[in-house]
Amino acid sequence: MNTQSARPLPLAILNQASKSYGDPANPVHALHAITTEIHDGEFIALCGPSGSGKSTLLNLLAGIDEPTHGEVYLLGNDLAQLNDGQMAKLRADAIGFVFQFFNLLPVLSVFDNVYYPLMLNGFRRNDAREQVMHIIEKVGLLDHYRRPPGELSGGQQQRVAIARALVKKPRLVVADEPTGNLDTRTGEEIIDLLLAMNHELKTTFIISTHSPLLRDRARRVLQIEDGRIKDDYCNA
Ligand SMILES: Nc1ncnc2c1ncn2[C@@H]1O[C@H](COP(=O)(O)OP(=O)(O)OP(=O)(O)O)[C@@H](O)[C@H]1O
Ligand SMILES: [Mg+2]
Repeated sequence: MNTQSARPLPLAILNQASKSYGDPANPVHALHAITTEIHDGEFIALCGPSGSGKSTLLNLLAGIDEPTHGEVYLLGNDLAQLNDGQMAKLRADAIGFVFQFFNLLPVLSVFDNVYYPLMLNGFRRNDAREQVMHIIEKVGLLDHYRRPPGELSGGQQQRVAIARALVKKPRLVVADEPTGNLDTRTGEEIIDLLLAMNHELKTTFIISTHSPLLRDRARRVLQIEDGRIKDDYCNA
């Protein structure tokens, strides 16, 4: 067997995945038979107008929602075949999330917000300390690790959320408009950070966005319109 010609298994596959919402007699079709693959190490901007299906696609990939038709595979698992516990474990091990509105816990310090996913995975605080501080340093918040998120700027809060997403060393980070709540300049700094993390840690990113800057700097662009892939290209 010539193993050299074997293509690596994609990290994630959407195969003819459709999603409809609401009354089956009068459904809203959010996604129409989407087929695509995501490979290890990619940095993908998921672009398209409001309502085009970006968040829906991310939710299917992360197993937060199920397709109405078609299949989603993550790390070789057909998500439809997993029970809730298996899905929760796969998500906890393999996926990090970043949201538009940060979703940090206001009563916890930066340190404890970043530690939180490790705590849920059973790590003791002291045992996790090095790993938590390492990623806090990577996102540039070493001077702020004791502070609550409310004392930080929006950009700094998003850095905390990125550290929290990365601390478990997930294979895939799913980010839904991570710069959507930031001014252009701060958004640009966050894009720089996401690109740096992709480069340094080899983490795979798929990021929904309305930002032309992120679209132009992403290695791959998936453009969706009306729930269909309109374009899929790589920037030079
Ligand atoms: N829970 C839901 N129930 C009913 N319809 C929904 C639901 N979620 C999304 N939709 C519909 O599915 C379509 C796609 O929505 P989605 O949120 O994926 O778009 P989006 O590209 O993320 O938009 P935005 O850029 O505004 O975030 C829209 O028509 C939306 O109204
Ligand atoms: Mg959305």
